[in-house]
Amino acid sequence: MIKSENICKEYKTKYYDIVANDNINIEIAYGEIVWVSGVSGAGKSTLLHILASIDVPTSGHVYWDDKEISALNDKERSYFRLNNIGLILQSLELLKTQTVFDNVALPLRFMKYDSQKINTKVNNILEELNIIDLKTKKPEQLSGGQKQRVAIARALVTEAPYILGDEISANLDGDTSKFIYDYVRTAIKKRNGIGFFISHDEAIKDYVDTMYTMKDGILEAVK
Ligand SMILES: Nc1ncnc2c1ncn2[C@@H]1O[C@H](COP(=O)(O)OP(=O)(O)OP(=O)(O)O)[C@@H](O)[C@H]1O
Ligand SMILES: [Mg+2]
Repeated sequence: MIKSENICKEYKTKYYDIVANDNINIEIAYGEIVWVSGVSGAGKSTLLHILASIDVPTSGHVYWDDKEISALNDKERSYFRLNNIGLILQSLELLKTQTVFDNVALPLRFMKYDSQKINTKVNNILEELNIIDLKTKKPEQLSGGQKQRVAIARALVTEAPYILGDEISANLDGDTSKFIYDYVRTAIKKRNGIGFFISHDEAIKDYVDTMYTMKDGILEAVK
C-alpha cells in the first residue's frame, strides 16, 4: 500500500510562496491503478515526486506499507526506490551517453543481476514495446514517442511493485497510447502492484480503477 497523511508542500521563492500540495490524504492498495488529472500547475507532479520519495513534503507523512518513507534519509530512500519503484518522470531522465539497451539495463545493474539475466529481461521488454530495433541507438537519435517507450521499459523491467508515471503518453499517438496503457496495466495487475498515473489524456480512463482530480493543490476523488 502507498499512503499519504496530510501532505503539504510549500515552495518559497524570491518572488512567490505557493502551496503546491494542500493537505493530501490518499491510500492506494495493491492491485489498484490510480489516475490523477488536473490543469497545469495544479500540483500533480509535486505529489508524484513526494509519493515516489524523490522529494519530501513540508509536512505530513508518506508510508510504503508500514514504513514511513518520508522519515528516511536520502541514501535509505534511494535504496527503497530502487527495489520498489518504477518511475516515469515528465522529463524522462534518459542518460544521453548510453544506448537504449544500457538505459533500460541500468536499474538491473544497480540491483546486481548477472549479465545473462539482464540480457534476457531487457531484450524481452524491448521486444514487447516494439523498440528492439533501437537497442544500440542513443536517446538523441530517437523520436519523442520512442524515448517515452524506453523510459517505460526502464520503469517496468525490474518488476517493482509501485509504478508511478507522469504523462506516460505525452509523446505517443492515440493507438500507441492505448497499447501502452494496456501493457502497463497488465504488467501491474500481473505483479499485484500499484499504479499512480498523471495524465491529461481522457483515454486512460478505461485502464484505471480510481480517478482523482487536482486543483490548486487539493486532491479530490471522482465518483
Ligand atoms: N521546485 C519548485 N520551486 C518553486 N515552485 C515550484 C517548484 N516545482 C513546482 N512549483 C510550483 O508548484 C506548482 C505545482 O507544480 P507542479 O509541477 O506540481 O504542477 P502540475 O500539476 O504537475 O502541472 P503540469 O500539468 O503543467 O505538469 C506550480 O505553481 C509550480 O510553479
Ligand atoms: Mg506536472
